[in-house]
Order: sequence, then structure tokens, then C-alpha cells
Amino acid sequence: MSSAPFLLACRRQPAPFTPVWLMRQAGRYMAEYRAVRERYGFLELCHHPQAAAEVTVTAVERLGVDAAIIFADILLILEPLDAGLQFIAGDGPTLTRPVRTPEDVGRLRDYDVADALGYVGESVRHARAGLAGRVPLIGFAGAPFTLASYLIEGGGSRQYVRTKSFMYHHPGAWHDLLALLARLVNAYLRLQAAAGAEALQLFDSWVGCLGPDDYRTFVLPHSRAALDGLSAIAPVIHFGTGTGGLLRLMREAGGDVIGVDWRLDLDTAWSTIGHDRAVQGNLDPIALFASPADIRRRAAAILAQAAGRDGHIFNLGHGILPHTPVDHVRALVDAVHELSAR
Ligand code: CP3
Repeated sequence: MSSAPFLLACRRQPAPFTPVWLMRQAGRYMAEYRAVRERYGFLELCHHPQAAAEVTVTAVERLGVDAAIIFADILLILEPLDAGLQFIAGDGPTLTRPVRTPEDVGRLRDYDVADALGYVGESVRHARAGLAGRVPLIGFAGAPFTLASYLIEGGGSRQYVRTKSFMYHHPGAWHDLLALLARLVNAYLRLQAAAGAEALQLFDSWVGCLGPDDYRTFVLPHSRAALDGLSAIAPVIHFGTGTGGLLRLMREAGGDVIGVDWRLDLDTAWSTIGHDRAVQGNLDPIALFASPADIRRRAAAILAQAAGRDGHIFNLGHGILPHTPVDHVRALVDAVHELSAR
């Protein structure tokens, strides 16, 4: 399995073609997923290792991608903190007991990761069995900043006014909160690797709302702690969006592979990050709504920027959207394989 193209690319070793997988590749755009969701609520599905593993494997079979990602959610780690996590259809995630004051940070219930999140390890074991060595399995977690933003905002946000205000006004409580999250994330990623995850991705999806100074002061030490020691166990992918001004700092925080969104050219991003790291990206998810011919042209443009250098993993710049035509996703996967064959 260590000769799987995806793992070769993570280590910047020569691969027979550019490996491709898609963030959120198991989701509502896929009929097979919607069928499973008729039987389970979203959180219920995440808590059901056999069903979660089935969804993980089905996406790989349907798309022909070069890696699987365990079916779970970055917010599961917040559930045992007792902040009232709910997924309401159409509304996305909500936390009914958000963190709004320093006292609220003190009220969060610290917990034992093996006890509370062991079910995700079970999903990983089932998914590894179901994949039977066909492609490597990625485990993942949210990064401390992105997790804190959900805890403080009580859900998704556009401007992160509450999150940043908390950071400015209560730096002590902020650092306590991020240190707690970093400790949980590190233990959770170790748990997934121990259960059989062959690579690990840290999603700092919303960190691009910060300028470099705030990232350096309020986030970097905690992302570094979240990733501490992990690269020795499995390749680590460190991903964010809107991070054009943060790529060097993200690299400093850690990661063998840096995930890049579509708002900058892949070659510019890669020279900024440094060619001694691998990169993952970076097609605009909405490009999948273009014609298959257009998708192929756009994939070719990204591959041309990678210029055949070892250490490129093809992906979207962010997660796949509901209503994406599945045939177009297949067309992308086929185009990447064909155009990059060496
Ligand atoms: O990639 C995969 O296929 C694995 C599964 C996965 C999910 N969420 C399943 C999911 C992964 C890797 C995630 C990560 C995740 N979750 C992130 C980071 C990636 C990103 O997009 O930035 C974030 C921010 C979340 C939080 C989250 N979970 C949101 C904002 C939502 C609502 C979005 C929506 O489309 O409604 C979710 C729900 C969610 N997580 C769904 C899936 C398949 C849709 C739930 C459903 O079935 O209705």
C-alpha cells in the first residue's frame, strides 16, 4: 500500500500518474449517499461505523478516485464538550450552547478521546476492511481555529465577528480554548491512525479570514500542537481556504502536504510554500458545473502548473457542492488520470 500513487505523492516520490480525490466526495450530490441518508439522520450515520464505512467505500467505487476519506465530520469532536451540536436539515450545523464568555470556556467538559470518539476508530477499521487495500484511507479532523469559530459563532459565519472579538478581548481564554481543542485534535488524529488511517488531513477551512499577524499570534502555535508528532506516523495534509497570505505560516505550523484553494494559481502557491513540501488542489468546486470539455481543459491547466513535479495531489480547492453532476466528477477523475499518465 505504501506504493499507492496517493501515498507516493504525499512523500513527493514519483507516481505513475497524478493521484486525485475530492474533499467531501461522499455527500448529497450522490444518489447512493441520499439513499443511505433516508435510513439515518446525519449524526446517526456518523455514529454508525458500518454505515459510515459503506458510504466511504461507495464513493471510491463510484468515482474511481485514488484515496478514500473516512465518513465523519469535523464537528464530531465538539459533541462530547456538551455545547449542543445539532445538524438541522437545510441549515447546516448549530451549537445551542455556544462559547460567548471566558466562563463558557471553563464550562466545556474535557473528555477522554478514546472513550468518546472510539466509534470513529471503528468506522476506520470497517472502511479499511471494505477497501481491501484498493486505495489508502484518509482520517481527518478540524483545526483548532475552525472548530473554535463554530463553538463561538454557534454555527457557520460570514465575517467571524464574534470569533475575532473573543480573540481580541479575551486572549487568555482564547488560548485556553485553542489549547484544549489542539489536545483533543491531536489525540483524535492519533486514534484514527492507530485504527488504520494511512494519511491525516487537518481542515482549517475558515482560517483565511485572518491576517498573517493574527494567524501567527492566535492560531499557529495551536495548529502546530494539533499536528505535533503526527508526520512520524502518517503523511499529514494541512488544508485551508482563502490562505493566499498564510501559506508560509501554515507550512511552519506543519504538514507534509499543503492544501490550496482556487483563488491563486497552483504554481504561485507551490513556490510560496516551497517545493520541499507536497501540494494538494486546486480546482474551483463550481468548475464541476461546467461542461466536461471545459472541466478537462481546466484540469489540464492545473496539471500544467504542477509541471510534472513529484508531490502534487489533484483535488478541488474546497469541498464538492450538493447538486454537482456525478458524471462530471467522473469526467474530472478520468481526465486527471489520462492527462497525467507518465
Ligand atoms: O469528504 C468526505 O466525503 C468525508 C466526509 C466529510 C463531511 N464533512 C461529511 C458531511 C468531511 C471531510 C467533512 C468536513 C467538514 N465538515 C468541514 C471541512 C471541510 C469544508 O467543507 O470546509 C466542515 C466545515 C464541516 C462542517 C459541516 N458539516 C458543515 C458546514 C455542514 C453542512 C454543509 C451542508 O452542505 O449542509 C456539514 C454537514 C455534512 N458533513 C454533510 C456531509 C456529507 C451534509 C449532511 C447531510 O447529509 O445532509
